[in-house]
Order: sequence, then structure tokens, then C-alpha cells
Amino acid sequence: MAGCVVIIGCQSKPSKVTNNLAQPAIYVHDPHSYAQPNKAVVKHLNLELEVSFEKQQIAGIATWEIEVSSNTDTIIFDTHHLKIDKVTSGTSDEPITFTLGPYDEILGQPLYIPITQGISSIRIFYHTTPESAALQWLQPEQTAGKKHPFLYTQSQAILARSWVPVQDSPGIRFTYRANVKTPRGYLALMSARNPQKVSTDGVYQFVQPKPIPSYLLALSVGVMEFKMLGERCGVYAEPEVLNQAAFELEDMEKMLNAAEKLYGPYIWERYDVLVLPPSFPFGGMENPMLTFATPTILAGDKSLTSLIAHEMAHSWSGNLVTNATWNDFWLNEGFTVYFERRIMERLYGKDYAEMLAVLGHQDLINTLKQLQDSEEWQDTRLKLTLNGRDPDDGVSDIAYEKGYALLVTLEKIVGRKRWDAFLNRWFTEHAFTSVTTEQFVDFVHHHLFRKNSEWDKKSNLHAWIYEPGMPTNYQPPTSVRLDSVAAQAMAFLHGKPATDLSVKNWTSQEWQYFLRQINKQLTADQMEQLDRAFHFTTTGNSEIAVLWFESAIMHHYTAAYPAIENFLKHVGRRKFLVPLYTAMIQSTDWQNRVKELYQHARKNYHTVSCKTLDELLHS
Ligand code: BES
Ligand code: ZN
Repeated sequence: MAGCVVIIGCQSKPSKVTNNLAQPAIYVHDPHSYAQPNKAVVKHLNLELEVSFEKQQIAGIATWEIEVSSNTDTIIFDTHHLKIDKVTSGTSDEPITFTLGPYDEILGQPLYIPITQGISSIRIFYHTTPESAALQWLQPEQTAGKKHPFLYTQSQAILARSWVPVQDSPGIRFTYRANVKTPRGYLALMSARNPQKVSTDGVYQFVQPKPIPSYLLALSVGVMEFKMLGERCGVYAEPEVLNQAAFELEDMEKMLNAAEKLYGPYIWERYDVLVLPPSFPFGGMENPMLTFATPTILAGDKSLTSLIAHEMAHSWSGNLVTNATWNDFWLNEGFTVYFERRIMERLYGKDYAEMLAVLGHQDLINTLKQLQDSEEWQDTRLKLTLNGRDPDDGVSDIAYEKGYALLVTLEKIVGRKRWDAFLNRWFTEHAFTSVTTEQFVDFVHHHLFRKNSEWDKKSNLHAWIYEPGMPTNYQPPTSVRLDSVAAQAMAFLHGKPATDLSVKNWTSQEWQYFLRQINKQLTADQMEQLDRAFHFTTTGNSEIAVLWFESAIMHHYTAAYPAIENFLKHVGRRKFLVPLYTAMIQSTDWQNRVKELYQHARKNYHTVSCKTLDELLHS
């Protein structure tokens, strides 16, 4: 790719070098991939997939166009619980003798393929196994329609290798085409140009013309329909939830326009959202051209759509400019939270964005408290050291909220106008490249601090990034609206009847804050009173429900117990499951049956959630 920014050496001093064979790209070392892209690297993927619900298996042929430097005789791919059937060159049927390296629980197995001079493509015949962790195969009863099975993938962080043999590093980009065969009547969707209708023969063609990293490979197959929401936006869902989803996401096109005004043109053609069945382990996943989302954002009043702003913002921070390794994860998420709140500010006003920031600040403080005095305190640095560990261990509110807080700090120091120009430049100059934290630091020094050395001192940049905890110059956000919510919460705790509280026009964020203020101190009697006034137990707002359920578990409010069990049996979103199961372990009401409940619910969860909960519940 001409003109791409290339990272020189492990110290990651960036420089602009044309990536051609005479002067090959030099990639920064990624501790979570076996690939050696400096020797042989993938450029384009032609994927042929056949999806069998009966066998719960994908059979695939991955044809990789590769670029090889002269001094190597092997190309290395990542695999994890894949069965490799055969390898040939892209141009002949003659099998090539490949080897699989030793199995590592986190990284899987390297696939070594010998290459001869002049070879430009490799064809890998393979199939997935029941252990392929990216895949979730849902039974009909786990879907809204209850009639047909459903499949979706989750590749981030290092699970792409469990359904495609790939150089699975966020520092390596490739374009792709795919040909997917499904049983008749099913729709297949990918992180690519997508069909809007079911095909008659069950065959679908996909093109992703822009180079993306492997963690953005995605596929979903099920009985789904599409509804257009605007010129560039639309929503896919099971027919049973499509109308609700379309209503909730009505403002998407407006969001996209707001995002473009902030940080430049949207380059991915369309922005569609797929609302998945409730087992999806995340709130959202920014698969290019097609965000995957949990149905738990369908609150009925558009109150949880900042999550869509978040995934949309990743179209710039993450998908266009990508963290070079998972140690630089905050570059993806911190930037995206910042961008998300700027979009929400544009659409719904400053006070709305301030509420989001204050709730985020509370999350940050809680995370810092949890990690205090533990070995994991080092994980409160923005630049992580996940070498030898599962990158999923680095996923915490630190990357999101401390990252956000750093960017707000810089914005305040240099002023919004200069800051926005800087961010625009960051995205433009690093488009379609992967970046390290060190590159960001250099860029800040070069384009911001060079003009004013006072800013450098004031910012404390080094401490933010390389030291644990919060630097002394952190200024927590404030929100006038949430201050008055806090006053109501105090009044309630001091005996004011629930029905006399001033809660008119409170948004979901205000209710969340209210519950967070009183959560620890409630009694079961007070909960009953609140429930009579506000019907929290039956709320359709998942964020409010989870806070309420947590209190119910802590304070023995038994009237909510059936609703809690029902929620846990259906919803697989990890962020919700962790606090609920954690509260249950500590509750005398639940302690004895929590494991049984989990065993029952577990089959409805994706491996990503299961892994976290297995650790939580077996300790
Ligand atoms: N890319 C993340 C999800 C993710 C992170 C998956 C790390 C695997 C590893 C996505 O953009 C995200 O941040 N989702 C959040 C929602 C957001 C509003 C904070 C989530 O799922 O909770
Ligand atoms: Zn994100």
C-alpha cells in the first residue's frame, strides 16, 4: 500500500516509508500473534465458507495473497482450535507440507507453511471445531423467533484465529472478499458490503475493499431482515425485533452526520447495525460497515443509544486508526469514548454529555478501587503489559475512562479548537495504519507541545500513560443535572416518600445515577416503596434493571428474584452478568444456588462471558 505509515523497530519510532518489496514494511512486535509480518505478510483474503447448522461447523478455504521478503522460507499464521485439512499454493493443487507448532492456551497454535521463491498466494483448507471460541451457535429457542438456529462471531481480541487461519494481529491489515454458503432461507452478513435480502440459493458474496485488521472479521447467519433508516444507515434484526430496533436507532444517520462534522468523512460507505439475540457478550462490536449490538440497548425510548455513537466512533478510532498491539488498547477505546461523548453533545446537548462523563467517572473510580492493593494495579496504566497474558485481561474501564479523561485533559489545556484540529490530523495522517502509544506521544509533542512548552508540563502526559492510578492533574467531570439527582437521592434516604420526589423528565442516566447514590444503603422496605412508585423490577431499561437487581440481591428484596433469574437466563452481556453474579456469591439468599443457576444459564452465554464467569464462580 503506497504511502502507508510504517513503524520502525520495536521502539516504534514512526517514519513514512513506501511499503514495497524494495523496502518492506517493518511491523512492531505483537506479543499476541505468532506471525512474523516482517518476513511474510498477508495482503488480501479470499474466503470461501460453508456454514452447517447441523454440524455446527464452518468449512472454509482461505486463499491469502501474501508479500514475502527475500530472506524467508516460511509464512506463519495463527490458529486456535482449527482443523487444518490441506494447504496448497494459490495456483496449484499440489499439497504443501505444513506444520502446526505447540499448543498454547491463550495463543493457540502457529501454522508454519513453507514457501518457495516467487509464491504470491497460499490456500488453506480447514474447518472449525466445537472449541472455536469466536463462534456462538444458537439453538432456535435462544432466538427471538424460536424457530431457526443462529450463528454469530466475535473476533476481538484474538479469536479471529478460531474461525479463520489468519495473521491475527491488529498491526496487520488486509482487504477481503468472501463467498458464503448457508442453508436456504438464511441471511448471511459480514463486516463488508452486505446484502439486504435473503438470496434464493443461500449463497452470498461479500467485499471489504478497505484494509482492516483481523479482529474486525465478522460473520452472522440467521433469519434476519433489514430496514433502511436513512441514506447510509439501516438495521438488521430478527423479524420479531426489527420494528423496535428501527425505532430505537432512528437517529443513527444524524449521529453519522455529527461524527463527520467533528472528525472528517466517513469512509466505510454504509453504517448498518445488526441487533443480535441477547446472548451477545458485549454491548456492541464495531465490525466495519456493520456494528454488532446487544438487544439490551432497546429500552423503548432511545435512552441507551450512546452505545451506537460509541461503535460508530470506532469507524475512525479503531477501524481507521488501529491500536498496533493490545497493549495500546486505550488508543482504540479511550479515543472512542471521547468521540462518542462529543457526538452525543452535538446531538443532545452539553448537559447530556456531562451526565455520561460523570457516570463514566464513577465507573473509573470503582475500577481503581477494585484494582488497588492487588497485582493488577499495574493494569491501571494506559500503556498495558499484557505479554504472556490473555489480552481480554486488559479490558477494563481504565482504557475507556482513564483514556477519555486524558483526552479531555489535553482538550482543556490547548483549547477545543486546536484540539479538534489536532485530532483531525491524527486521523488523516494515520488512516489505515496501526499506531502505538509511543507514536501518539510523539505526535502530541510534535503538533501540540512544540508550540507551547507550558502545556507539556501542565499535561503530565507521561504519568497518565506510564504510571498507575490517576495523575494529580485529573479534574473529574461535573453535571448540574446529576447534582440535583443526588439531592433527591439524599432526600429519599432521609425519609422523603418516593412519591414526593421530583423526578419529572428524568432520563435513563438520571435514574442510573439515582440508584447508584442509594444502592449501598437501601433496605428491602425502601426498595418495595421505590418499586411501587417507579416499577424498577419490571423496567425494560437494562442499565437500570441491572443496578436495581444488584441492590435487590444485596438487600434481600425477594420480590425482584424471579425477574433476576429470568434476566440471567437470557442475557449474556458480560458487563451485566459480572456484577450480578458477584453480588450473588456474597448473598446468603443466593450463595447455595448460584452455581446451579449459572450451570443452567451458561449454555446461553458466549465463550467470552463463560470464561470470565467460570473464573468468578470457581474461585
Ligand atoms: N470493541 C469493544 C468491545 C470489545 C473490547 C470486544 C475488547 C472485545 C475486546 C466495543 O467497542 C466496546 O467498547 N463495547 C462496549 C460498549 C461501550 C459503549 C463502552 C461494551 O460492549 O460494553
Ligand atoms: Zn469500544
